[in-house]
This record gives sequence, C-alpha cells and structure tokens, in this order.
Amino acid sequence: MELLDYDVVVLGSGIAGLTAAIHASRRSKGALSIAVVSKLHVMRSHSVAAEGGISGVLYPEVNKDSQKLHAYDTIKGSDYLADQDAVEVLVKKAPDEIRFLDHIGVPWNRREEGMIEQRAFGGMSVPRTAFAADKTGFFMMRSLYDELLSYKNIDIFNEHFATSLIRDGNGIHGFVAFDLADREIKAFRSKSLILATGGASRVYSLTTNSYSNTGDGTAMAFRTGLPLKDMEFVQFHPTALVPSGILITEAARGEGGYLRNANGERFMEKYAKSKMELAPRDIVSRAIITEIREGRGLRDHESGLEYVHLDLRHLDSKKIDEKLPMIKEITMKMLNIDPSKSPIPIRPATHFTMGGVHTDIDGRVMRNGSKHIDGLWAAGECACVSVHGANRLGSNSLSQCSVWGRITGIGAAENASRRKPSTSRFRKIAEHEEKMILDIADREGSLSPYKIRDSLHKVMDEHLYVYRNMKGMKLAQKRIGELRKRMDDIYVADKGKVYNTNLRDTFEIMNLLDLSWIITESAIRRHESRGAHVVAEYPKRDDKRWMKHTIATKSIGGIHFSYIPVKIMGWQPTERKY
Ligand code: FUM
Repeated sequence: MELLDYDVVVLGSGIAGLTAAIHASRRSKGALSIAVVSKLHVMRSHSVAAEGGISGVLYPEVNKDSQKLHAYDTIKGSDYLADQDAVEVLVKKAPDEIRFLDHIGVPWNRREEGMIEQRAFGGMSVPRTAFAADKTGFFMMRSLYDELLSYKNIDIFNEHFATSLIRDGNGIHGFVAFDLADREIKAFRSKSLILATGGASRVYSLTTNSYSNTGDGTAMAFRTGLPLKDMEFVQFHPTALVPSGILITEAARGEGGYLRNANGERFMEKYAKSKMELAPRDIVSRAIITEIREGRGLRDHESGLEYVHLDLRHLDSKKIDEKLPMIKEITMKMLNIDPSKSPIPIRPATHFTMGGVHTDIDGRVMRNGSKHIDGLWAAGECACVSVHGANRLGSNSLSQCSVWGRITGIGAAENASRRKPSTSRFRKIAEHEEKMILDIADREGSLSPYKIRDSLHKVMDEHLYVYRNMKGMKLAQKRIGELRKRMDDIYVADKGKVYNTNLRDTFEIMNLLDLSWIITESAIRRHESRGAHVVAEYPKRDDKRWMKHTIATKSIGGIHFSYIPVKIMGWQPTERKY
C-alpha cells in the first residue's frame, strides 16, 4: 500500500472542494503541500450540473435589497431551523465570493450598463441570484479548475475512491482510497482534511443528481463515529423532467414560467397566493403532489410517473434562447419538446441533502455536541453548518459552497502549519482498512448489490418522499434493516483490477444503505411537520418541542440520537406564509 503525505487534503472536487484547495494554497502562500482527491475527474463533479445561479446581495440600492433581507428570507425559507449565526455569515460573505468568481473568469450575465444581472428565485424577496445563463455551475467549475491548475503546490488525484477515514482517538489523520485505474490501494495522510464529497440524493431513484452523489464522505464520517445533523431533511426540487429526473432549473420560473395542472390551471394560487410559482421548494413540491393526488395530474404511460406542466410558452423565445438555452436543449434532446411551443412535463425529485456532517460555524467537524475533532473540516453539501435548516432556498447552495469552501480552506491551512503528522498507529489502521477493501472485493455471495440498490430506491421513493406517514416510515425502517443485512451475502462479479466500477458501486451502495437508514430513523423520531419533512400524523410545526437539530451518532449496533438547540439571533419563528 502506497502512503502519500500532504499537509492539506481535500476529498471531493466540486465547487466547495476546489474553492477550499485554492484558498488553502493562497493562505499558505504556496508553502503547504495540498492534494485534491476525487472519485471522478474534477470536471465531472456534480457541481457542473448546477443551473440557475448563486445568491448574494450585490447592489442593495439598485435591487432594494439588504443582507438583512437575504438573512430573513433564508431563515423563513428554512422553516426557522437554520442557525441564524451561520445564515449571517452566509449573507455577509456571499457577495465577495460572487466578485471573486467574477475575477477568475465566470461569464456572468450582465445588464446593459455592465452590472452583474440577478434573477428571481423561490422564496427570495427580490432578484438576488447571479447567473451565467442556465449553466452557472459549469462556468463556476471551469473558472475554479483553471485557477486551481495555476497553483503549483496542489496535486490532483482523479478517480480515487475513498472508503474510510483514519481516526485515532480525537483526531482524523487521513483516509484510505483505491485508484480506479488499477485498484491500487493508497493511504493519504493529512494534517488537515476537508470533506467536500457532496450530497446523497442517490438514495432515491428519481433525482436531479448525478449517479455519483452517494454521500460517501457523510457515510464515512458516520462510520468513524462522527455525528450527522438533521438528516431527515431531504429537498425535493419541484421541477424535474419526467421521466428522466433531469433538473429543469427554478430559473425557468424565475424568468416567468408557470405551473399548470391537467386542467390548464395555475394551481399555485391555492397554495402560495403572493409568491405563486416562486414559493420555496417544499411548498411548491407539496402543491404539485397534492394536485396529482387529487386527480389533476397527467401520466407518462411508459414510466407510469404522474406529472404537471411547466409552461414557458408565453415567454419571449429570445429570452429562452438567451437565459435558458440548456433547458431548451434538454427538452428538445430528451423529449423533442420546444418549450416555446409546448409545456414541459415535470414532477418533484430528490435534489439536495439539507442534513450532513455536523460542523461548527467554521466548518470544523464536531465529534460531539460541543467539541470538534482534530484535523477535519467539511464544506458544501456534505456538511451541515445549518444555513438551510428544514428547507433550502434555491441558489443558496452555491453561495454556501463558496463561502465555506473558503472558510474551511483557510482554517485547514492554518491548522496544517501547526499540526504534526500522525506517526503512531496510522499505518496499522490503514492496513486494516486495506484488508476490508480486499475482503469486499472478494465477496462471492448470492446477491447482486444492484438488486439491493433497486429495492432500496423503491422503499425510499415510496415512504420517504414529499409526504410521509409513520406507517410508511416504519415499513421503510424494517425493509432497510433487512437490506443492510443482505449486503453480507453479496457478490462482486468483477474480480479484475482495471476500472472495477463494480467494486466502486458496491461501496457506494453500502454508503446509500447507511444514509437511508439514518434518514429514516431521524425522520421517524421528528414528530412534527417542518420544511421538507411533512408527516401525516403530525401535520403542524411544533416549535415548543422541535426547534432543535437532530444529531445522529453511530452506537454499537445502532444509532444514538440527541438534540441540540437552534441558534436564534433575533429572527423569532412565526407562521410561514407566502
Ligand atoms: O433550479 C436550480 O437551478 C437549482 C438551484 C439550486 O438548487 O440552488
């Protein structure tokens, strides 16, 4: 097993990861050795699929905007579960991140007078989402990657799949990974490690996310005894294309698109009279599913999926070409639909993991309620710093990735200049992990891991979707328990070493099983409806008992649950009306 030593290692190569690596390098003035390790090629990271834009108050006077208003929108959008100190950091720092991205080459759409243009997004009081057509994530990634390549002290390891963190007592010292090209197992030793491994939407089958979003870093952190926070809160994006689940950006509604049911009615009037199609995602998703349940949906006969329409026909076709070119390309290629002529079939699909690795406001990973673990940070979707609470507002994730990418990169660099590398038990622990990888690669049981994944998808799609109930979640709990046991009897059919995606998939499926278990157990315990978590038996938000974060930590044979208070800085919870 090869041992690689770095001062700072960033695991994951999306917007949060690249931003972290760049700022770690800048902070150390090129003195620290830094590695970016990704299970993909950098430019295949899921961030490239981000479409609609990034939030931040750029021109308060022109847009009649303020950081206070951005904070208020975010907190109200979160159904008052966001930590308000973290939200203050987000709104304060987001504008500088947009300007930084401007300086490194993101081709923002601009107004005629040269200002960066900002569009309307769900739950935001004024237009404050900066964008590059409907390919914002791609352009951000392209610029960050170009920038990163100019730092001589950053090495990139593409297509290395990490399986486990190396923990010794109260410190994290790196992780073990295998190179997809030849299955060579490597131990990365770090003084500071940043997890930036993205979300876990692939626990469901219908999702806007790439196949790669299997929550690997989150699952690894859990397995090493680190707490996860608020995992019951999963975001369903209202407008995923039927039947594929490809994201049709919220910007389509920001630019004026309507939602219509089978009768052609703009049904959002019944659910969010003042915001209509630009209500927050939890509300719009529930409205769509309610329309479908009450018989006002349509059905795709091949997939059996029910849907409603996103209607852009009334928009100027020049506007579609200039601001939503990719949406047109997607609908033309996938369904032969020209959005200026025909409505688009959409329904809610899993989009974002609001919960994640429990961090403090500096992105340091916590090891219990009040203490952090040495040597580990988390940023981006895998982290739960608690800016999104129970429901994220669209375009706040790119700002979160950028803001905490920078914060964690700087924190990790400063720590690395002080911390000594681990020497004592590192190799021994790494060798133990190597044996575990080889043991799984050798499995010759009777079950296909892919069948187990398909069964898991059915359970999650059916019981942990937009509307939940106790009976369904308890059924899911039982089924997931059985599926986890069945993993002991799987086979890995590909015994080769070269590009063994079968082995990688098996590890990903194990991660999905762990995370869906935690999502389900967390959801069963939250006896209220808040944001994206809506339970038939507990239809109301219950601030008296449930203004608190769920903390899930691995215990012997199970999960230990505890709760910590939400941080309130002045915005008191009120009824959420739009
Ligand atoms: O609809 C979208 O463009 C998604 C944006 C987001 O999730 O922030």
